[in-house]
Amino acid sequence: LSASDKTNVKSVFSKAGSQVDDLLGEALERMFTTYPQTKTYFPHFDLHHGSAQIKAHGKKVGAALVEACNHIDDIAGALSKLSDLHAQKLRVDPVNFKLLGQCFLVVVAIHFPSVLTPEVHASLDKFLCAVSAVLTAKYR
Ligand code: HEM
Repeated sequence: LSASDKTNVKSVFSKAGSQVDDLLGEALERMFTTYPQTKTYFPHFDLHHGSAQIKAHGKKVGAALVEACNHIDDIAGALSKLSDLHAQKLRVDPVNFKLLGQCFLVVVAIHFPSVLTPEVHASLDKFLCAVSAVLTAKYR
C-alpha cells in the first residue's frame, strides 16, 4: 500500500465511523445472497434477512477491519490471532475473501457514493486484499 492508499483507506473508515459494523453486516448478508456457496461456512447461523447473528458477526468483522486500518503498517501483527483462527480452525477457501471484499466495496458504494472515487476504490481493494492475504497466510 502506498502512502496515498493508506490515506484513502483511513478516510473511508473515518467517514464510516460507527457505521462500519452495519456496513459489514450488510456486506455479509449480500455475500450470502449473491454467493450462496459462502453459506456453507455458517451452518450454525440464522442467515435470514435482518438476522441478529449476522449483525453481531458484522460487528466483529468490522472491528477487525478497523483494527487493520489503525495498524495499516503492520496488518499481519494486528490480525495475527485472527489469522491463526482462519487458518487452523475455520479453513475458509481463500476465494471467499474476494467475494466478501467485493460485497463490502458494493456496500460502501451504496452508502458513501461520493467517497468511493476510482482512486479510493482501488486503495480500498488493495487494503482488503492485504487483509485477506494475512488471514490466509498460515494455511498449510
Ligand atoms: C469468524 C474476521 C472473512 C468465515 C471471524 C471473526 C472475525 C472474522 C473477527 C470472529 C472471531 C472470533 O470470534 O474470535 C474476518 C475478516 C474477513 C473474514 C476481517 C475478511 C475481510 C471470512 C470469510 C469467511 C469467514 C470470507 C467465509 C466465507 C468465518 C467463520 C467464522 C469467522 C465461519 C466463525 C463464526 C462463528 O462461528 O462465530 N471472522 N473474516 N470469514 N469467519 Fe471470518
